[in-house]
Amino acid sequence: MTQDYNSKPEISVAPMMGWTNKHCRYFHRLISPNARLYTEMITTGALLHGDTKRFLRFNSSEHPIALQLGGSDPTDLAICSKIGQEYGYDEINFNCGCPSDRVQNGRFGACLMKEPNHVAKCIKAIINAVNIPVTIKCRIGIDEHDSIEFLDNFISNSMNSGCKAFILHARKAWLNGLSPKQNREIPPLNYERVKAIKEKYPHLKIILNGGVTNIKTIQEHQGNLDGFMIGREAYSNPYFLAEIERVIFNNTNILSREEIALAMIQYAQKEAEKYGTPIKSITRHILGLYHHQSGAKAWKRTLSTLPYEENATCEVIEKALKAQKNQQNLCTKPLQSVN
Ligand SMILES: Cc1cc2nc3c(=O)[nH]c(=O)nc-3n(C[C@H](O)[C@H](O)[C@H](O)COP(=O)(O)O)c2cc1C
Repeated sequence: MTQDYNSKPEISVAPMMGWTNKHCRYFHRLISPNARLYTEMITTGALLHGDTKRFLRFNSSEHPIALQLGGSDPTDLAICSKIGQEYGYDEINFNCGCPSDRVQNGRFGACLMKEPNHVAKCIKAIINAVNIPVTIKCRIGIDEHDSIEFLDNFISNSMNSGCKAFILHARKAWLNGLSPKQNREIPPLNYERVKAIKEKYPHLKIILNGGVTNIKTIQEHQGNLDGFMIGREAYSNPYFLAEIERVIFNNTNILSREEIALAMIQYAQKEAEKYGTPIKSITRHILGLYHHQSGAKAWKRTLSTLPYEENATCEVIEKALKAQKNQQNLCTKPLQSVN
């Protein structure tokens, strides 16, 4: 069964550790009212023994927002999911795709794909603890388990324990020998395997992740899948999300880059007043706003230096805007006659 071509696909921004914290998500939400946002992976250990408030706090504008959990103890996962629901998250996402050594040592992330029965227990525990949607993000295979049968077995086990939605990073992961970064680049993308799962389980929500960097890819596959999760492109070229708003959601009220920058000044000011957030913690997420635009270099250069000076304030964003405009004007000024 294929999707109704006219129905809108779900678009989301991927969980990215060190990147998609609440400042980044606030910024993404300004650009994209329609995207679903995900937290970075938060481990059950961090939530249970760390500063829970700091990990879970988010702005109300970030809805719909999913909390991604990393862990493998069903009881801990259930407790953390419940806490997430109480904080107002709209979805609990269970990480079965992270290949890092640290995560493997804790017996969670991608290595859990080798233990579908245990994943089923975890999912059951989470589903019993909350009444918001529960989803899994996983790879399409790991190590030598690189077949549709392996993925199918994992999906059907999780489905039988109640999971109705999956985000499939369309490459397998090598658990030994490749770094997490290499594991996002070296194993080839295989969209056909993701589509085969959707074809076999039409009632499941199947979201494709991996290498979605242009509208054409979304348009090409949207009839066969329920949605697309965008990772690195949303970070390095965040205004791609505005293009998605315009083309996929027919949104005619998209904020300009400048309007977004101005809104981030206000946000940074409030953050500084309320929590003492240093400006550099916010500006590092907005470096890509002018990606491929004239003046991008001046914008980036300003934001890569001034926020790191002592006593820097949100004024650095104003300065970056000015620098961007000056450089843009220099590029577009007609050549003066010399006599
Ligand atoms: C810096 C960085 C951190 C990431 N952290 C996570 C994470 O915490 N949880 C997760 O499920 N995936 C994580 N990922 C993987 C992304 O969610 C995504 O699956 C991957 O980047 C492929 O999508 P893309 O090709 O659109 O970037 C991370 C990726 C990057 C680049």
